[in-house]
Amino acid sequence: MTAARDEPSTGRVRPDRTDSPTLSDASLAVHGGIELDSTRALRTPLVMSNSFALPDDPSEISWSATAPGLYTRNTGVNQLALERKLAALDHGEQAVVLASGVAALHAVFFTHVRVGDHVVVSDVVYEATWRLWTELLPRRYGIEATFVDVTDLDAVRAAMRPETRLVCVEAIANPTTKVADIAMLAEIAHAAGAVLMVDSTFTPPPFYRPLDDGADLVVHSLTKYINGHGDAMGGAVVGRSELIEPIKADAMVDVGGVISPFNAWLIQRGSVTLPLRLRQHFASAQRIAETLEADPRVAFVAYPGLPSHPQHELARRQFGGAVYGGMMAFALDGDPDLQNRFVAQLRLITSRFSLGHDDSLIVHTAADGPRTATYPEPFRRLGHLRLSVGLEDADDLVADITAALDASGA
Ligand SMILES: Cc1ncc(COP(=O)(O)O)c(C=O)c1O
Repeated sequence: MTAARDEPSTGRVRPDRTDSPTLSDASLAVHGGIELDSTRALRTPLVMSNSFALPDDPSEISWSATAPGLYTRNTGVNQLALERKLAALDHGEQAVVLASGVAALHAVFFTHVRVGDHVVVSDVVYEATWRLWTELLPRRYGIEATFVDVTDLDAVRAAMRPETRLVCVEAIANPTTKVADIAMLAEIAHAAGAVLMVDSTFTPPPFYRPLDDGADLVVHSLTKYINGHGDAMGGAVVGRSELIEPIKADAMVDVGGVISPFNAWLIQRGSVTLPLRLRQHFASAQRIAETLEADPRVAFVAYPGLPSHPQHELARRQFGGAVYGGMMAFALDGDPDLQNRFVAQLRLITSRFSLGHDDSLIVHTAADGPRTATYPEPFRRLGHLRLSVGLEDADDLVADITAALDASGA
């Protein structure tokens, strides 16, 4: 990474702002990844070119190199700018950005796990991670996965084998909001010679940085909070260069899960307001979780910011105080029709997949789905409503929920 650049007006050279160790998160979110190029534009220009002019003698250049200036699948201008920013925000050496969060998850598994290896996976993870480790990777490549309750550290220790290569968890799990103790899991993984990968989609920086607690690789669905505006899709993996470089070479260049420059550009723009947005998401989520829990028509609320959450103390310690994320799961005391009637009455909050957007999103999931066997008891009895709290005014969101509860006949 270049550490300096010229300023034409004064001839001064100033340090690259992404590299400054003293920058606060808000400043990094604004300035991270931006380098002046020949246009001297203060925004990284959108470079929609899939290829770049080669030097006079290109004959010795590797077509699998991960360098910029060759071909966009090998690294494009907008990818690189976003990677620099995400690495800085997550306190990682390097980042790779890919087409989606699932492309990023698959890139880790494809690159760092081989035939005959064993992995330990949290028993509550996002649908695609679940399917990759229950069906696709074991069937196609003979890689064995053991699913464990990662809040039971003895069970995690017992699941480790000499051939365990990877431990795969979510810091706050989708959808039950189970919280994983990342420092302890890193210790267990490292003692067994394994790599700890944390999907931190529910816990983006600066809210939480798993690398600071000993994780080796962090995965984000950029589609969610980091972009935050519900338009582009993307994914990232952040960590030490020795782990990220092979992901770039194998999963990006040679498997091709590359992100479009336009999506990288949109995500870089969306991420400018990330620290500011998270404060609002989290404050509103805490208020809504407390409102729901106090309502007798609501059977349960799973949110790490509630003292009733089984890992509330761990969450308080691990996430550094008074913030607990913007995601919760709850159910009304009634049958699936009641849950659907409630959702249908909501006016501001929309029934939709995805999360971490500016608008609040809710989705009803049945009690007896393929993954629910490992969910806590009320999830298995009632199903659940996963709520992603958006940036609307908290009073309006509470009013929307209260009116829908009244109208649903709960
Ligand atoms: C925790 C988690 N990881 C990964 C993903 C996948 O991200 P994407 O939809 O960008 O592929 C999701 C999507 O909801 C998620 O919730």
